[in-house]
Amino acid sequence: MVSFDQLPYKVYDNIAIPHFIQPRTEIRTKFKIRPRTDIIVASYQKSGTTWTQNILRHLLWPGDNTLLFERVPWINVTRPLSLSLEEIERLSDPRVIKTHDPVQWIDDLLQGSEAKLIYVYRNPRDVALSYYNHMSLKPSMRGVTFQHFYRDVIRNPVRANHGLWEDHVGGYLKLKIQKQNMLLLRYEDMVEDLAREIGRIAQFIGVECSGIGSDSLIAEVEEKTQFSYMKKDTSCNYSHHYKHDLFLRNGKVGTWKEYLTDEQGQELGDIQRQVFNKYGIFI
Ligand code: A3P
Repeated sequence: MVSFDQLPYKVYDNIAIPHFIQPRTEIRTKFKIRPRTDIIVASYQKSGTTWTQNILRHLLWPGDNTLLFERVPWINVTRPLSLSLEEIERLSDPRVIKTHDPVQWIDDLLQGSEAKLIYVYRNPRDVALSYYNHMSLKPSMRGVTFQHFYRDVIRNPVRANHGLWEDHVGGYLKLKIQKQNMLLLRYEDMVEDLAREIGRIAQFIGVECSGIGSDSLIAEVEEKTQFSYMKKDTSCNYSHHYKHDLFLRNGKVGTWKEYLTDEQGQELGDIQRQVFNKYGIFI
């Protein structure tokens, strides 16, 4: 078993979260949604959250080069990874806010609200590898193999951060059936055609994307949100915090094959198929 000391975490509602995270339900009184103007970016970890945050930042504040979290804070953590809740309260509209909370922790925010919700999801096999690589950068993970991590964390419902992939993704896909002001993004679609997906985001948040100047905006956002650009961009590669640029590892689709066994690939492939079939996602 990967030990508690190696990866400090806490459990809330039977769901594990890193020790430094406050679930939204615990900050209910301190964070108030602005129901007409807020935009929420939600995701399971390692699914393209930072990428989506950065696209939104460049669409809404072209040319901005402040630290990404100062524009698009993560409501569940504070400095040095995000703004404090008091600072978030002082942001002017529109606010764009990140969370990894499972849907049941934020649904009160969304009920009766016109706030826009963007959910980004990614193939669970690449998420698994990205999650392992991210955690492996911590010195305390030395000696923990992918095979240990897969069994004891990734596939452990009370140990995987923010719960199991299928519960997180399934919860949001279910919400989408009845929620109008929600946009689904798929990491693999973003890799396939970034300009197209930037256009979908722009349209969803009401940034003009047809007419004079709009093509150049999409092109500018595309340039600044390419993997190679973001990897070097100290405003969004987390080097201010981690002191390295490995948060953006390789940004590819399908590298799970280098680590996962055939059985693991099959297991996660089946899980993905079941969730997607249930909620009408055809890929
Ligand atoms: P990899 O570890 O597979 O490279 P999150 O922000 O949700 O934690 O997701 C991190 C993952 O998104 C990492 O995946 C990271 O490299 C990838 N990512 C970030 N920006 C990207 C970009 N511009 N293009 C492709 N992938 C990107």
